[in-house]
Amino acid sequence: MASTMYKAWLQHYHVDQHALREAYARWGQSIVAMTADSAVLQSAVDELTTGIEQLCGIKPSVADTPQHASYIYVGIADRLHRSDQYLADSDMPKVGKEGYLLKHIELEQHSVITVLGETDRGALYGVYHLLRLMAMGESLEQLRVVERPRNSLRMINQWDNADGSIERGYAGQSIFYEHNRITDNVTRIRDYARMLSSVGINSIAINNVNVHEVETAFLSEEQLPAVAGLANIFRAYGITLYLSIHFASPMEIGGLLTADPLEPEVREWWKQTAYRIYKHIPDFGGFLVKADSEHRPGPFAYGRDHADGANMLAEALQPYDGIVIWRCFVYNCMQDWRDRSTDRARAAYDHFKPLDGTFHDNVVLQVKNGPMDFQVREPVSPLLGAMSRTNQMIEFQITQEYTGQQRHLCYLIPQWKEVLDFDTHAQGDNSFVKQIGDGSMFGMKHSGYAAVSNIGDDDNWTGHTLAQANLYGYGRLVWNTELSAEEIAEEWIRLTFGNEEHVIQTLKAMLMSSWRIYEQYTAPLGVGWMVAPNHHYGPDVDGYEYSRWGTYHFADRDGIGVDRTINSGTGYAAQYFSPNRERYDHLHSCPDELLLFFHHVPYTHKLQSGETVIQHIYNTHFSGAEQAQELVRQWTSLEGNVDEARYTQVRERLEEQAEHAKEWRDVINTYFYRKSGIADEHGRQIYS
Ligand code: GCU
Repeated sequence: MASTMYKAWLQHYHVDQHALREAYARWGQSIVAMTADSAVLQSAVDELTTGIEQLCGIKPSVADTPQHASYIYVGIADRLHRSDQYLADSDMPKVGKEGYLLKHIELEQHSVITVLGETDRGALYGVYHLLRLMAMGESLEQLRVVERPRNSLRMINQWDNADGSIERGYAGQSIFYEHNRITDNVTRIRDYARMLSSVGINSIAINNVNVHEVETAFLSEEQLPAVAGLANIFRAYGITLYLSIHFASPMEIGGLLTADPLEPEVREWWKQTAYRIYKHIPDFGGFLVKADSEHRPGPFAYGRDHADGANMLAEALQPYDGIVIWRCFVYNCMQDWRDRSTDRARAAYDHFKPLDGTFHDNVVLQVKNGPMDFQVREPVSPLLGAMSRTNQMIEFQITQEYTGQQRHLCYLIPQWKEVLDFDTHAQGDNSFVKQIGDGSMFGMKHSGYAAVSNIGDDDNWTGHTLAQANLYGYGRLVWNTELSAEEIAEEWIRLTFGNEEHVIQTLKAMLMSSWRIYEQYTAPLGVGWMVAPNHHYGPDVDGYEYSRWGTYHFADRDGIGVDRTINSGTGYAAQYFSPNRERYDHLHSCPDELLLFFHHVPYTHKLQSGETVIQHIYNTHFSGAEQAQELVRQWTSLEGNVDEARYTQVRERLEEQAEHAKEWRDVINTYFYRKSGIADEHGRQIYS
């Protein structure tokens, strides 16, 4: 039996309210569906069947014609029999390729809940929506939902390696690979596909963007059948499979002496490779590429640019409608800390902006949400909005590399919401990042979101059970960017822990405060980093200060921060459109939370909040650590309301977090006290 941790948000708790359960069961006893040629519709019916069994304690019958007067109809609108046309309605065209219509129809002899998509994928998403409503105890009497996703690419990136390890994974080993091969143990992969599909994810890249030897060979005739096996699993849940590729594959596995994208034999090799892949996986999504970054090979070696590299791959995939997702996380990782003119934050814009308009229309640039690397606080990447003639998608990191590694609670949806609602001013006022995500800002063909997954083979998938909320939330958010972080949190809690009010309110408060809490006791005012090198866990203020990675804070006895202003600094602020450019550039208008990202200031500089920088550091670090302790108290108030296994697991993590927050507090406070010699106004304990 799967544990509650494992079932995540697909618990389908038995509905205790008698009348409600009876009502669900009346319809749910009979499922009418025509699944004949669609694995996706079959999944929809299977999901509905198990869902109803668990929610209502009855076993539905499944048939292609009604067996009872009340039933749930699951299907595709244009396959309805003439006599069933009443199940659709005039809103059907609004649902598009992946949306659905849910509605209750009461006729003289029939009472029907209909779940209709224009495609089987739409119907599957509709089933998950219906199950969600039932799990949250909503009445279906007035049911009428017309829904479609706002974004077309809703992708997950696995950073899994064939040896079973996961780059930046904090929840055990890979569920995809073991001993340098694709695993035969597919149950877990199927359950993952169910989870992803239930929140609307439609694409997955199954291997790390840093592609090593074994994964490079996934493109070979020998390996493709196993890759196709994974594609089959995901396809049944409406999820398209992508591979991360090694740019120098023609040399690594093709026996060529070059990977130069303009060399005819290299182009031909990629064409043959695409042909081979599509023979095995007819609906293969395409390639995800990290090139010329962090020692990965790329077109630079041949004096070519990113467009040359991406377009070559795009041409190979084009006959099959495949796409190339080319990452913009490209920077010089061999910097000299003595040289203040190089600024890693500038890199993505400097590399890619000049290439706007030169990429083929089946290339999509994948841009990290911030200019550095998934810090707890960064400005939004200035590249978002800066390329009006290039497909773009936005990359988030669900795995908590810099946000507590799933040992600390950090609900990331509020952070992502801020990114989506950021006004880039690219097309004047109200040019929000979410309009790049949905493609509307520049009317681009491909757009959407990708995020690095946070799962592994731990029983609870995510290490910290509450980190499941980030995976759930990512899917829901990119399905509908208008949902609030709070709405998403509430849904997740109810599906995961049930509908008890005390649990909902307590947990919601914990989740909603957690990102700010984490920010408070870690690196201050947007300066970032200050983590131990390599593994990135825990405080080490100078860990990266004299390194090659371009991540500095420049603290001395007088002040701290990176001068990225236009006149005296690296000029990074100029990459934004006005008025963001001026807002960040001027000390008086720069938002406090990003002050040290843009400016180098004395410790005595007064923030807009009225506090000095040094006092702010002390205050937030004392307060953050106290609030981390408060999270433990809030959680322990749920003892008895949450099953023992999850209660204990989460309590242990929160206790560890509270302890570790003290470590952060003391290391940071002491460091700045020693540097500045300025005492805490409130005389609290700072170790000297
Ligand atoms: C971060 C992370 C790396 C990863 C890289 C990327 O720098 O630490 O492990 O490879 O991002 O996004 O490519």
